[in-house]
Amino acid sequence: MQMIRPVGIIGTGKYLPEKMLTNQELEKLVDTNDEWIISRTGIKERRIAASHQATSDLAYEAALEALKNAGISANQLGLIIVCTMTADVVCPATACLIQERLGAKRAAAYDLSAACSGFMYGLANGANFVATHIYDYVLVIGAEVLSRITDYSDRNTCILFGDGAGAVVLGPTEMNRGIQAIELGADGSGGALLRGGCVGGSRYPTADLLPEGVTHHIWQNGREVFKFAVRVIETVTENLLNKAKIQKSDIKLLVPHQANIRIIQLAMEKLELTENEVMINIDRYGNISAATIPIALAEAVEQGRVKQGDTLMLIGFGGGLTWGGAVLTW
Ligand code: ACO
Repeated sequence: MQMIRPVGIIGTGKYLPEKMLTNQELEKLVDTNDEWIISRTGIKERRIAASHQATSDLAYEAALEALKNAGISANQLGLIIVCTMTADVVCPATACLIQERLGAKRAAAYDLSAACSGFMYGLANGANFVATHIYDYVLVIGAEVLSRITDYSDRNTCILFGDGAGAVVLGPTEMNRGIQAIELGADGSGGALLRGGCVGGSRYPTADLLPEGVTHHIWQNGREVFKFAVRVIETVTENLLNKAKIQKSDIKLLVPHQANIRIIQLAMEKLELTENEVMINIDRYGNISAATIPIALAEAVEQGRVKQGDTLMLIGFGGGLTWGGAVLTW
């Protein structure tokens, strides 16, 4: 058994569909208004995939950019993980569709389902393969077309969600760089607080089998999920600081899941961070579940907000219930 080696993110990429859905357009669909949406969520607009685009189409574009930025070819990939709750179909895995399109002939490929925490679970999965020398390079993608499972007659949910994809390439890095700490968790007892994509699984293979009141659309108990998110941020940030043996003041950038600006502000307060130290793009994209963290990270890199040696904290939470976070040195 070889020694465990340090693992870092060596390339990032993102893809957002062109079409925008603004708060003003939503005002025409449901009884809501721009002021309510901005004050309660921080969202102004979100992106919506074109009718011909499925999750793999978005994921593919993000993957190409991440590979280019990492400076490696698809042929060097040992593994592709697609984190999503809106896979193209149940089988084949969306990761296999990407493997074929990239021509990543040497890569294994699988999908991972952990809702909004999906990317954090994927990062942990991929990092273990690199750390233990099983693969040198792993592509981790978070991609969603949530608009396909959003009910545009339900004002409680349709204002929240959007479509997009983000990707990272993981690879070996130098000592004292890369991933320093990881924290994952789940509480299945809260599973009923958030559901989506109920059709196509073994419980309800077709829509006509759904019980009264259940649809394939995303549904959540917003208030309870909000309280859960606040609890998770408290404990996960504390545990990550302890595991990585760092202080709050060491964090140069927090990249949180973009579910609600009020949740992000609570995380900022908890970690005593200024706006400059937190990546926020929820105003432009809304909640894209597993894709929000890799998209936000890719944008932070593009904007020059991440420098070599910086300490970053990533944190996600969502359906399952699940949560996950990481501390890494860029
Ligand atoms: N426009 C206007 N009014 C609205 C809207 C809307 N779009 N939606 C709800 N309201 C009303 C409600 O009907 C309610 O009215 P009432 O008091 O007369 O009953 C009032 O506004 C307050 O509703 P709440 O649900 O209590 O609003 P809240 O402040 O909790 O905000 C929200 C709702 C935005 C959903 C919030 O609870 C939230 O962000 N929750 C967490 C979501 C999250 O983090 N999800 C996890 C990830 S998602 C994933 O894993 C896929």
